[in-house]
Amino acid sequence: MNLDFSQIVPYIPFMLEGIWVTLGFVIIAIVIGFFIGSFIALVKISHIKVLRWIADFYTSVFRGTPLILQLMFVYYAVPQVLGYDISPFLSAILTFGLNSSAYVSEIIRAGIEAVDKGQREAAMALGIPYRPMMIKIILPQAMKNILPALMNEFITLTKESAIVSVINYLDLMRRAQVVGAELYRNFEAYIFVGAIYYVMVMMLTVLGKLLERRLKKSD
Ligand code: ARG
Repeated sequence: MNLDFSQIVPYIPFMLEGIWVTLGFVIIAIVIGFFIGSFIALVKISHIKVLRWIADFYTSVFRGTPLILQLMFVYYAVPQVLGYDISPFLSAILTFGLNSSAYVSEIIRAGIEAVDKGQREAAMALGIPYRPMMIKIILPQAMKNILPALMNEFITLTKESAIVSVINYLDLMRRAQVVGAELYRNFEAYIFVGAIYYVMVMMLTVLGKLLERRLKKSD
């Protein structure tokens, strides 16, 4: 066996910098995905058939094609046809945000539909209009149920973010590749970066558990 972690030591700051690069676009993508996803979920439960079809089609496209293809499409294909340049950062937040919104919309839709319909009926009987009913009564209850699924989605997105290495974006993953190529030894760099991803995901898991516990208190 031939392992030598001392060789990656000079590259550790370079790889650690990747944490901020990865976190930077993942957090923005999560926020974009959450807001667009919530909006699409509301469209999906609306009574306007055409809008519902469009929302379903949107979801099926983003779930029905590989994320890596979507990223290449946004970064290479569309700019070539329309004749503009797009940065890896912008491509990443756009692709990951839109992709995630498709998944989030399904999670939220299911969560809303799982809230007992008596809640809605009671609100309507009291004459509470749609918006306050949704925001104050239905959504808070839905949120509690969907939190684990939502956390799962954020974890998936964090790990899938490594795909941006294919558009030469210097995220954590790409940095491990660079160091591996430079040193002609891959094991150490990938183990190092792998451990960082693992810690990031564990932190998200703990955060999810804490949030869940807090929301349970109101039961
Ligand atoms: N590897 C899958 C794909 O390429 C993962 C996409 C998952 N996306 C998500 N936001 N959950 O399609």
